[in-house]
Amino acid sequence: MLPSAGGAGTTTMTASRVADIIAMIDEHTIAGTMSGERVAAFCAMINAHCHDGSTEILHEGYKLMRRLGKGSGGRVVLAQRRSTGQTVAVKTIHARRGARRPDVGELLKEACFLAACRGHPYLVGLHGVVRDPRSREYCLVMDYVGSSLNDHLDRHVEEHGRGFPEAYVRRVMRQLLTGAAAMHERGIIHRDIKPTNILVDEDDDSMVKLCDYGSAMLIAKAVPPCGLIGTVPYMAPEMLLEKPDYDERVDSWSLGCVMAELLSGQELFQSVKTADALRKIFDALGVPGKKTWQGFKSTLPADQVQQWRAQGQEAQRQDRLRELFPEELLSSHGFHVLKGLLTCNPGKRLTVAATLRCPWFKVDATESDDASGFRSGGTELHKHIVL
Ligand SMILES: Nc1ncnc2c1ncn2[C@@H]1O[C@H](COP(=O)(O)OP(=O)(O)O)[C@@H](O)[C@H]1O
Ligand SMILES: [Mg+2]
Repeated sequence: MLPSAGGAGTTTMTASRVADIIAMIDEHTIAGTMSGERVAAFCAMINAHCHDGSTEILHEGYKLMRRLGKGSGGRVVLAQRRSTGQTVAVKTIHARRGARRPDVGELLKEACFLAACRGHPYLVGLHGVVRDPRSREYCLVMDYVGSSLNDHLDRHVEEHGRGFPEAYVRRVMRQLLTGAAAMHERGIIHRDIKPTNILVDEDDDSMVKLCDYGSAMLIAKAVPPCGLIGTVPYMAPEMLLEKPDYDERVDSWSLGCVMAELLSGQELFQSVKTADALRKIFDALGVPGKKTWQGFKSTLPADQVQQWRAQGQEAQRQDRLRELFPEELLSSHGFHVLKGLLTCNPGKRLTVAATLRCPWFKVDATESDDASGFRSGGTELHKHIVL
């Protein structure tokens, strides 16, 4: 039997409830017992949680309007609720290579993570799970937010020839770190934080939300092997090195990469292959010392790790991060945050909660300076970022 959903007024699913539901989804998926009735029962439970028992709103019908985005995991379209005209974003997931149909278990798990984080201002809101009457596919119905931070940054760079000014970056980072901290408090690691998985409010471009929990996992489940998941240029070194037991600090790393990209206007560790990403990381931050290497507990064969160390040493010994983000681009308080997030040793890396306590964020929380900073523009795009 499925556990019942939270009572009226419950705004979040507790971490243990999410863990229970996800464990059941996994069990049925592995056992091949995810029948139509079972899927419907999971959907009902998630939807009841989202609407305090009322699921009617999901069955009123939607008019599909236009495609919003297509990622590796799914397709998202803008739709309008027929009864109210409210716009929503509807996500369907693709079938994995070789599979005939999308894995409904994956969609249900994403829905569970979204439901657990529902109601947070910096995390995308879920309305529920519906079944498209024509294609019979299950989809996630979410708040429509606006374009991705990736598109927003591209437009800004095209127009101004540089990344965003520090004050705007601080405002965005404060929200992203707060959102990530809320996920971590709920026992969830996002694992794929990057500009295309961050949405910018269409009415106020200083408001952002994290989206796409398709790669998320439970911290409680972080028992080896955790696996290489996410997007290579934003992956933490311990994940790239196949450390079998990473933790939520992989999100801190990704947020450091996002911060760097917002400031410079370009991906910091642009790469397709894990080997390229590692080389670029060591080139910018220096080759980690022996202790850090030991901490990586990489499952890669020892000779391969040795080879990495040797190659890294040849390439660069020194940390060049300040050279890449000089004072004109980032104040010393801002740099302290960037450096704390982009620390190779996960044990020494800042957690998202600790980052929020850094002096950089001590400026007026209303960030009145930020909007003006954004409008007046920042420093020139830093030309030396060539990794
Ligand atoms: N709630 C939303 N509101 C507006 N656009 C969205 C929303 N959710 C996703 N998108 C758009 O769709 C794109 C793909 O969605 P995402 O959930 O990241 O799917 P994938 O798992 O395929 O990467 C995003 O990069 C974004 O542009
Ligand atoms: Mg995505």
